[in-house]
Amino acid sequence: MPRVRVTRRVHFAAAHRLGVAEWSEERNAEVFGDCSNPLGHGHNYEMEVTVAGEVDPETGFVVDLKRLRDLVQARVVDDVDHRNLNVEVPWLEGVNPTTENLVVAIWERLEDRLPPGVRLDRIVLRETPRNHVEYTGG
Ligand code: NI
Repeated sequence: MPRVRVTRRVHFAAAHRLGVAEWSEERNAEVFGDCSNPLGHGHNYEMEVTVAGEVDPETGFVVDLKRLRDLVQARVVDDVDHRNLNVEVPWLEGVNPTTENLVVAIWERLEDRLPPGVRLDRIVLRETPRNHVEYTGG
């Protein structure tokens, strides 16, 4: 059976502040610049979640896209949309919410939740139209 990649794109808005808790304000300001503004700032995140699997000969699907949409919504978007990532998301507790750390945490929220035979292939997380990270696990 042919293996195909399927991508679902989602959006969320969130606030954060970058910094290392153990560091001084001065060092955080030096390393993270405006991103360590004590009162935070926001981003309109765009995320692409790609899964891969064999095309089911009956349905013609790799995965039911409604099921993928609902999974990403329930496991990620509902928790982070219009939230402060530093203080309101239990699974980001103690995490410096850089885009890199976020994409890894999001991966862990999704990877074991996919239907049998479907695996998480790649997540692209866009913090601004000019900056994005991608993660393929491991
Ligand atoms: Ni930021």
